[in-house]
Amino acid sequence: MNLKGRNFITLLDFTSEEITHLINLSAKLKEDKYNGKEHKVLSDKNVVLLFQKDSTRTRCAFEVGAMDLGMGVTYLGPNGSQMNTKESVKDTARVLGRMYDGIEFRGYKQSDVEALGANAGVPVWNGLTDVYHPTQILADFLTIKEVFGKLKGINFTYVGDSRNNMGNSLMIGAAKQGLNFTGVAPKELWPDQKLIDTCLEIAKEHGSTIHFTEDKMEGTKNADVVYADVWVSMGEPKEVWETRIAQLNEYQVDMEMMNNAKDTAIFMHCLPAFHGKDTEVGKKIAEGFGDKFPKVKNGEMEVTDEVIESECSVVFQEAENRMHTIKAVMLATLRESYE
Ligand code: CP
Ligand code: NVA
Repeated sequence: MNLKGRNFITLLDFTSEEITHLINLSAKLKEDKYNGKEHKVLSDKNVVLLFQKDSTRTRCAFEVGAMDLGMGVTYLGPNGSQMNTKESVKDTARVLGRMYDGIEFRGYKQSDVEALGANAGVPVWNGLTDVYHPTQILADFLTIKEVFGKLKGINFTYVGDSRNNMGNSLMIGAAKQGLNFTGVAPKELWPDQKLIDTCLEIAKEHGSTIHFTEDKMEGTKNADVVYADVWVSMGEPKEVWETRIAQLNEYQVDMEMMNNAKDTAIFMHCLPAFHGKDTEVGKKIAEGFGDKFPKVKNGEMEVTDEVIESECSVVFQEAENRMHTIKAVMLATLRESYE
């Protein structure tokens, strides 16, 4: 399997075998790191990380991953470059591609990461746009494989805004890896029908299912994995909070939902998660909307504190796996092989 020179912009561009290869490579890199085996095999290379939005996991995963591989790293934050204000994405791509061996981009428009990919001449990695978050899915699937030993046939339930970057990418990943995907949300938060149709076709090839429901008990019945994401994504105006809470507060993942899933079910979340009042936003929401929507009065939104702190929660294992999987993406697209 040779992915050298490839962009990593959406999982739609990758075959099932290629995705499996990246997950297996991640597991190998994780094992090597745990065993103290150095793997600075890219010490002649440098990468640049372009962030238009905030990040903890993705930025640190790229930085630590790159450093573990021996690479130099430059971070450019929302105001750290001329891109968009004085220089087009296309020109930025052509400049950075002459200095760096790989470019990570986190931002708003999917068309921006595509423009970088088309013009940089070096691999471009999507660290999240409004539409997709493909590196997260590799970490999620590595985690599921670690817990259940397989991906095929896993009943995967995503609860919440199913048409955001996470909903879209998890559905594509599930279709390609043979997981049975169920989206649970009010109908107006289901993904674009064209993307659902594409995923249905892919899922058919892998003998798995794609299904949407507004019924949270039906949707979590027999689930192996219950997955949640924030109700309002980065880049959305803060005015949407009230509507989104009204749409989703009944879909807060709580113990009743977890108990409705399989006995062995795990809870997953890409993080960051609102599960208490110990964040600025969590506190504001609790104070602003708690009277009207009692479920959020303790700052718990997409998941209760009880669930995320329970034995069934694997969210920090999942967060760690961001680093091993992102490292695998960089390694596989910058070098032919790794022994
Ligand atoms: N899950 C994730 O992408 O987290 P960050 O926003 O912290 O990068
Ligand atoms: N849907 C979330 C994912 C964060 C990792 C967002 O875009 O903010």
